[in-house]
Amino acid sequence: MKEFHCQNLICPLCGEPLHQLDGSLFCPRRHTFDIARQGYIHLLPVQQKHSLSPGDTPDMLAARRAFLDEGHYLPVCRDTVNAIRTYAPSIRTLIDVGCGEGYYTARFAQEFPHAVIIGADIAKAAVRMACARDRSVDWMTATASHLPVADGCADAITAMFSLVCEEEFARVLRPGGIVVEITAGSDHLIELKRLIYDDVFEQHKHPKPPQGFLREISCERHSFRLTLDRTQLTRLLQMTPHTLRVRPERRVLPDTLPSLSLTADYFVRVLQKP
Ligand SMILES: C[S@@+](CC[C@H](N)C(=O)[O-])C[C@H]1O[C@@H](n2cnc3c(N)ncnc32)[C@H](O)[C@@H]1O
Repeated sequence: MKEFHCQNLICPLCGEPLHQLDGSLFCPRRHTFDIARQGYIHLLPVQQKHSLSPGDTPDMLAARRAFLDEGHYLPVCRDTVNAIRTYAPSIRTLIDVGCGEGYYTARFAQEFPHAVIIGADIAKAAVRMACARDRSVDWMTATASHLPVADGCADAITAMFSLVCEEEFARVLRPGGIVVEITAGSDHLIELKRLIYDDVFEQHKHPKPPQGFLREISCERHSFRLTLDRTQLTRLLQMTPHTLRVRPERRVLPDTLPSLSLTADYFVRVLQKP
């Protein structure tokens, strides 16, 4: 049976501490949450869900897993690990918020074997997939805006191409704790966007200044090139929100395109709780 690190966890309904007994977590008010067969815990009350099945679709998740497992975004992972080593060198608890199917979370667990690693995502299908990657991680369905973790319990939070809820992250971090936020820059996958959209508006994209709960201590722009064949390109297209936005006929890449060289462009920003 999977053992959760309950010292960090609180009930998503009443905020009281959670305890584990066999296959369930429960709080003093007797709110009870069963550990799923796959090894994750569902800590997302219905009132915190914005839709029936929030997050990426199963097709998007399968494409994301196949694409990421080929290592195309390994530099993004390395940059994030380097930022954690620099700004949270003695890390004991890391929460990967919006962990998706768990590619980065599982790598963080390998890189920081002595830390408690929590992977949280609003999408049950994603968290279910993530469980198979690494049983040592505390996987959970939860929303970034109401994390079921205790005040000040985390040394670091990662938000890999996902939502930053500044006030909530500040609650969860210990003083001096950090958020490593990865966001796409304006040139990210620009060659793919030119292929699938008639007009690509070149926009200057820079992470928004923090709202006052956290302060920015570093923000670096990184880029690298990747060359993808048709299968890899199709997966990349399927795993991004472009797949939902683009006209159906543009989802099929032209036959004349055996491969494409692309730009990966992203910001690695570090925010700190004062
Ligand atoms: C672009 S994906 C990134 C997934 C993963 N970090 C990666 O890079 O492979 C964004 C993720 O955020 C999750 N998400 C969206 N809204 C969320 C919320 N309010 N709370 C937690 N996760 C959320 C989605 O389900 C999705 O898995």
